[in-house]
Amino acid sequence: MDKLLITGGTTLNGEVRISGAKNAALPILAATLLSETPVSIGNIPHLKDITTTIELLGRMGVQMVLDETMNMEVDTRTINNYQAPYELVKTMRASILVLGPLLARFGEAYVSLPGGCAIGSRPVDIHIDGLIKMGADISVEGGYIHAKAKRLKGCRLVLELITVTGTENLLMAATLASGTTIIENAAKEPEVSDLAYFLNKMGAKISGIGTDVLTIEGVEKLGVDNLHYEIMPDRIETGTYLIAAAITGGKVRLKDTRPDILDAVLAKLVEAGAEITSGENWIELDMHGKKPKAVSVRTAPYPAFPTDMQAQFTAMNTVADGVGIITETIFENRYMHIQEMQRMGADIRLESNTAICTGVAKLTGAPVMATDLRASAGLVLAALAADGDTLVDRIYHIDRGYDHIEEKLSQIGATIRRVPC
Ligand code: EPU
Repeated sequence: MDKLLITGGTTLNGEVRISGAKNAALPILAATLLSETPVSIGNIPHLKDITTTIELLGRMGVQMVLDETMNMEVDTRTINNYQAPYELVKTMRASILVLGPLLARFGEAYVSLPGGCAIGSRPVDIHIDGLIKMGADISVEGGYIHAKAKRLKGCRLVLELITVTGTENLLMAATLASGTTIIENAAKEPEVSDLAYFLNKMGAKISGIGTDVLTIEGVEKLGVDNLHYEIMPDRIETGTYLIAAAITGGKVRLKDTRPDILDAVLAKLVEAGAEITSGENWIELDMHGKKPKAVSVRTAPYPAFPTDMQAQFTAMNTVADGVGIITETIFENRYMHIQEMQRMGADIRLESNTAICTGVAKLTGAPVMATDLRASAGLVLAALAADGDTLVDRIYHIDRGYDHIEEKLSQIGATIRRVPC
């Protein structure tokens, strides 16, 4: 199991290219299951979760070719089974995204239930209830969801709470249903919109994209000759590199990204004392050598502050001036990084879903353990600001969602290397 060895204390400065968004690439690759013709997808991020998705689709008989420019050709004409096995789903919960497309196109899906997760219980009841309302016959046996339907029927779905992959699963299922489906209280995350734009390019009829009411007029089939689609930039990777500069008093220019989908994060960075400038596809952050000021954040669905940036802001608050209060409202157990940060000298008090962080003059390097993807990003950021060496264990979590993190951080001056164990 590889580890990351980070020697902190360097002010980061330079330019980084942002990769395609993991949370857009995963549903879009699942959505290729709906296409009767081959599709080409560009700006695929180089991530473990993409490898897992390739394995998942490959086991169904899908043919894929990923070239060195991270462009993937996907051909689903050779598909020969409709299963997502436990051994893959347990390593990547987003595998549940094949449920809607398989059921809608082939009338059957056999998908393992994801089960527990380090950041909370994360049930998929809203995905299942929505498909049942659309006429699917669903049973759960032996840890597997077995879904069947001749043709799904459009209907009105009012989601009990805002769910990103739940909205995506139902959206994909509705594209091939008979009649019109209306999804109310839909997630408005930009990655949901990216998926919807891709589906429309394949011939789907979705309106209301970017709002919390999605209307889908079902069509007979999907697939357009010579279709190419570019995945949107990763807003969470963008935010993480902005904090890498902010936490070290540095300056960074991020290219191939989008400032318009980061309003809540950029506003908090300005509050922390950063100077932010941006253009259509770039963002620059300059701390002018200053220490960040502590900021308070409350996570909530888009366009509010993202839960996927919570651990990184917690890291920044540990060395900031003042007291910052972090409130996590999406997942019940997304504070596993706090105990590790405390081992580095952070002053954080956890009260229920609230973390009260009082900035300290310096963190000190320590061996720490990553527990989930964004927690590990938080630990890497804390390590960049700490005195001495930090060894981050279990970095397979970080490889799931950060494309070449040690190369990108080295490029802006960090002392970081992968230590094979
Ligand atoms: N929920 C239910 N029932 C459901 C579905 C969700 O109770 O059927 C609850 C969850 O337990 C949670 C809340 O609803 O408390 C919101 O969860 P959501 O379904 O929106 O999360 P997700 O779709 O499983 C996606 C991202 C996560 C991100 C969340 C929230 C993907 C592949 N994953 O997860 O990303 O944190 O939305 O924005 O898009 C990450 O990238 O590190 C990551 C965890």
